[in-house]
Amino acid sequence: MALKNINPTKTTAWVNLLAHFNEIKNLHLRTLSEKNPNRKNDFKLQLENLEVDLSNNRIDRKTLQLLNQLAIETDLASAIQYYFKGDTINVTEKRAVLHTALRDFSQQEILIENKNISLEIGQTLDKIKQFTDEVLNGNWKGFSGKTITDVVNIGIGGSDLGPQMVVEALKFYKTPLNIHFISNIDGDHVQETLKKLNPETTLFIIVSKTFTTQETLTNALTVKKWFLTCATENDIKKHFVAVSTNLTMVKEFGVADENIFPMWDWVGGRFSLWSAVGLSISLAVGFNNFKQLLKGANQMDQHFKNTPFEKNIPVVLALISIWYNNFFKSETEVILPYTEYLKSLAPYLQQAIMESNGKSIDRNGEPVNYQTGTIVWGSTGTNSQHAFMQLLHQGTKLIPADFIGFKESLYGLTEHHDKLMANFYAQIQALKEGKTKEEVHLDMKVSGQFNQIESLLPYKVFEGNKPSNTILFDKLTPFNLGMLIAMYEHKIFVQGIMWNIYSFDQFGVELGKELANKIYKG
Ligand code: F6P
Repeated sequence: MALKNINPTKTTAWVNLLAHFNEIKNLHLRTLSEKNPNRKNDFKLQLENLEVDLSNNRIDRKTLQLLNQLAIETDLASAIQYYFKGDTINVTEKRAVLHTALRDFSQQEILIENKNISLEIGQTLDKIKQFTDEVLNGNWKGFSGKTITDVVNIGIGGSDLGPQMVVEALKFYKTPLNIHFISNIDGDHVQETLKKLNPETTLFIIVSKTFTTQETLTNALTVKKWFLTCATENDIKKHFVAVSTNLTMVKEFGVADENIFPMWDWVGGRFSLWSAVGLSISLAVGFNNFKQLLKGANQMDQHFKNTPFEKNIPVVLALISIWYNNFFKSETEVILPYTEYLKSLAPYLQQAIMESNGKSIDRNGEPVNYQTGTIVWGSTGTNSQHAFMQLLHQGTKLIPADFIGFKESLYGLTEHHDKLMANFYAQIQALKEGKTKEEVHLDMKVSGQFNQIESLLPYKVFEGNKPSNTILFDKLTPFNLGMLIAMYEHKIFVQGIMWNIYSFDQFGVELGKELANKIYKG
């Protein structure tokens, strides 16, 4: 079935949202809270241990009703069905979009061109498990008979950012293996990694959906050359595995047949960490934890597929983001996880979000006359508070924020965690409420700064009224991380549908590649 091609700005909901925007745009979040003391409860969504507090957004009930109406008028409901069923919704590349099938353990048939893909998915998961177990229990030996201690993932974009982010995020659950990532074609990056490694005890995973990516192939060849300085061609099978759709090229490179993990064209690179692209994750945290990650994502998939829009976390988050992007004309969104484990979340989401929805031609082939893909950026709290938060609090731009927090830390150290979470809530409150002239005046008076009041007061005022979502989990487990990532994946999908663009191609990265090939004279 085909996606409908509806220009969102031509819907009744959009016109009503414009009128509603004029009513609400100057309302302060303080006023909204005063008007509705029940606001926290009214704007709360929940899924398992995940709580999403939307009350710190510049919305009221009517805003959500109208946004919901927009979702209905743009026929999001059918789009969700087509997405999960495996219809060819990646029209420009003539492909289905089925990363959700990779984490569907229901054993239900999923047909693509009359082929049940759930069988291949199951077989690949078995292969990942078997390989992970063999390496971890020491049965898989390097060419000189030693146990593997290090694993290097060679890949870029979706073949790097997802696995890297998850391996970092789940460090607490780490196996004895050390995982490294080589992505940039920058030879210094390659060399810096290799210099720490012993070829006898290192396993290389070459990850490239296409196996034509310049960076990955160049890096893989350099690594192979380095390896062959002390080993033979025959040893390659003990140290090189590959994940790809391009079997011919992988074999040509020299990877043994049994070391090839399949990938499929119905999995987009930036949504592929759930496939064998996540082999490094499985090695890093063990297969059971990898499976938990998949299960968490599936939990979010079920919620997204089956929950009415007004209670549907990815849908509501996507709609609120459209509210800021298209009505308030916000330029960016900031992602603020309050855990060092998620320091790579923002770069990962940059690819997922910006490569997907950074498009300006609609599904009718016409240029859009409204804003599409949001710019996302971010860093962990509390570090961000000592870096860029000044601009959010007192700068000229409206930057909606996602605060991601965990009720418990992993190692205990509760005093640290209590302080961390105090900062988390303090930032949300400061952004929301700000500090009025009167409050600053009183503070300065109480602290005896009488003669500075006149000169300093304007600089100490916080306007407030800066929106945020609070996304709170019990703790950072593989399952919860799976939910979090899938939540953003579905948010991307919803926004692409509503902006009437194709989210699953990436032609915009091609021109630079072409020109680099022309400019390179080697
Ligand atoms: O350059 C963009 C891109 O095609 C991404 O979409 C993809 O994740 C990355 O390159 C790597 O591609 P591959 O896995 O085919 O090497």
